[in-house]
Order: sequence, then C-alpha cells, then structure tokens
Amino acid sequence: HRHLLGIEGLQPNEIVALLDQAEAAVEISRQVEKKKAVLRGRTQINLFFEASTRTQSSFEIAGKRLGADVMNMSVASSSVKKGETLIDTAATLNAMHPDIIVVRHHAAGAVHLLAQKVGCSVVNAGDGAHEHPTQALLDALTIRRHKGSIAGLTVAICGDILHSRVARSNIILLNALGARVRIVAPSTLLPNGIAQMGVEVFQDMRKGLAGADIVMMLRLQRERMQGAFIPSVREYFRYYGLDRDKLAEAAEGALVMHPGPMNRGVEIDPEIADGPQSLIREQVEMGVAVRMAVLEALAAHLPNK
Ligand code: CP
Repeated sequence: HRHLLGIEGLQPNEIVALLDQAEAAVEISRQVEKKKAVLRGRTQINLFFEASTRTQSSFEIAGKRLGADVMNMSVASSSVKKGETLIDTAATLNAMHPDIIVVRHHAAGAVHLLAQKVGCSVVNAGDGAHEHPTQALLDALTIRRHKGSIAGLTVAICGDILHSRVARSNIILLNALGARVRIVAPSTLLPNGIAQMGVEVFQDMRKGLAGADIVMMLRLQRERMQGAFIPSVREYFRYYGLDRDKLAEAAEGALVMHPGPMNRGVEIDPEIADGPQSLIREQVEMGVAVRMAVLEALAAHLPNK
C-alpha cells in the first residue's frame, strides 16, 4: 500500500507483518545507537489539526530513528488560522516535495481526501471518530507481547465508543486477528450499528468485564459532546469507571489498557492506571515501534526505491 489510511482494507497477514516488523523496532529503540538509514534523504511532514502528545511525538521520533528529515507543521500558527482550506494546505505542502505526510484531522474522511490531493504517502494519525490505525496496531503489539497471540482472547473495550476512532480501529483489527470483542458503554455513548461490527454489546460493565483477558478503557471525549451524553462525571465513574471492584470481574491476570490521554477519576481509577495490571506506559513505547514499522513499510513504496 502507498498509504496507511485505516485498518479497514488491511489483510490479517499484512497486520501481522507490521507487528513483526515493529518487534524489531522495539529492539532497535532499546539500543544505545537507535538510527537506521531506511528513510535517509526523505522528508516527513507531521500535519496535526488536533492536539496530540503521544502520536505526534512518536511519529517524529520514529521518522528520525529511520533517518528522515521530520518537519512538524504548527497548525496553530499556520495560515489555516487565516482560513486556508485543508486541500489548499495540502497542495502547498505537496509543492515542497515531501515523501510522507502524517495527518490528524477532526473530520472523519479528511485524511482520505488529502491522500487524493498529494503525490506522496499519507498516514492517518486519527480522523474524527473514524480511524486511528497506528493506535490499534500498537495496542495489538502490546497485547501480543504479553499474551503471545490475539486469537481467542476476550477484549472488552469500555466507555465513550461513540466518539472513538480508537475503538473503531481496534474492533476491526481485533476481529481480523480472531479475538472476541465486547463493547461496554451506556446507550448514549454507543454508535448506531455497532452490533453489526461483530461485537457483543453490554451496558452493565460488570457483565461486560466478566472473564475478559484485556480491559481497554477509553477517554470520555467531553470536548466532542454538545448534548447530555452522561448524567454527571461522578455517576459516570460509578457505573463505567474502572476501579478495583469492577476489574475483579475480569479474568485473573487481566491486563488494563488506555490509549491516553487519561481522565483520572473519570473513566479510570488512578490506583488501576498505575497498578500492576496496567500496560499504559508500555503502550507508549510500542507506539514508537509501530510507527517505525509503518514508515518502513511505506518506504518500500516510495519512488526510486
Ligand atoms: N492515544 C493518542 O492518540 O494520544 P494523543 O492524542 O496524545 O496523540
């Protein structure tokens, strides 16, 4: 593939190949000398129309570890603020001959549109509530390193499914690799048609967590909520916050994940987030490795390679 726009469209063997490549990147990243020359002479632009800590910094580090020149476009101080459109911004950057553009945008589908307008490879770093493919890949890598395989595991994805591109990409990937996926959320935070995505839906969190191998919590995306999706944060935590009591329903040795950023005390008790079952910091480390693997895979399709 020339672009990575979503998990949708990837074959299971392609997902596994990326995870295998990322395993090698974990080893490289743990060495004193971390540099490879795969992207030497190449230009990577990170174009983030939405805030990011993990995704943007790990794409920058990943590109640099592969030898690319990485430019972080500061949208906040760009001509986007003067009304320049997404397409005009893309065409302007395209005229500078980048090899790869990594894009995050608040509108679902914006990254696909941009990919049609530029001559280089495009990576989706999150588009609205649609997809966040590298998050699903890093989550799968983290799970695989602990459980050996994804197939046969029961994964409960809990919380604000409605606004979550992380949930969508994870549902597609986990199903493709043979996991059983459960969704746990109040009815107001469930998207229409979710049951058709091959998941089991629970509104009772204790039932949804019963026997689960992996508990994946999602951030309550209050910035995307115009209406009354939850009664109050305190009530939300009571019914859908992961605490010691609810986690006790999951399988013994169940592992806890969260893509970040976390709302401590809203969707997850700090005691659990920082506890022995939490993989949250490891997910961040795997983020760099997965992004190295994705950039390396795209490098094979760049012109003159
Ligand atoms: N998980 C994730 O995408 O985090 P950031 O928004 O900080 O990039």
